[in-house]
Amino acid sequence: MIKARPFKIAIFGSGKGSNMVAIAEAVRAQSLPISIEIVISDVPDAKILVRARELDIPSRYVNPGSFRTKLDEAAEQKYIQIVQEARVDLVVLAGFMRILKGNFLRLFENRVINIHPSLLPAFPGLESWKQALDYGVKVTGCTVHFVDQGMDTGPIIAQETVPVLEGDSAETLHGRIQEKERMLYPQVLGLLAAGNIRVHGRHTSRCFTNEGHN
Ligand code: GRF
Repeated sequence: MIKARPFKIAIFGSGKGSNMVAIAEAVRAQSLPISIEIVISDVPDAKILVRARELDIPSRYVNPGSFRTKLDEAAEQKYIQIVQEARVDLVVLAGFMRILKGNFLRLFENRVINIHPSLLPAFPGLESWKQALDYGVKVTGCTVHFVDQGMDTGPIIAQETVPVLEGDSAETLHGRIQEKERMLYPQVLGLLAAGNIRVHGRHTSRCFTNEGHN
């Protein structure tokens, strides 16, 4: 029997890399047909790069250019080039603190996903766990979604809930949300690698075929 080629992903991150590690560990433990081709960071000393090296995953810092919240034009071209050369099927944002825009998203339409620490569309943007706590909601959670031109607005793939407990601080709530993230992100990647997610406009659905990705 011919073995299908693995589903190739690139992971972009600016921070600790706990989601990247959870994905790498799940790929190994569950023998998911996923290959992390490269980990890219816009922060030269980000922990995610150290953790990728420890796991023997190719990784590199790529200068994001002069803006604070997005890539400048030259940097965007560089990121595109690296992803294209690695021939990845999907770009996985895991704590990447810059907004991807225009050219990048046009080239990789419905092939960029993100994990956000709230139940979108509630609390988009930064420090969503603090926003949830300040607002007084009783339930929050995390969302995996495709990335579109808006801020945390793309089609939702999956969500997990997390109760807000009495006495929660921003740190305790964030910690429990991140535990859920580390379970949800690998699960979603398994579904995408198996070709089991379809996108129709703003909606996504699960289909169960053995076709695999194409
Ligand atoms: C995660 O909590 C995710 O929700 C947000 O950024 C954080 C990244 O954490 N988008 P880590 O770098 O994966 O530890």
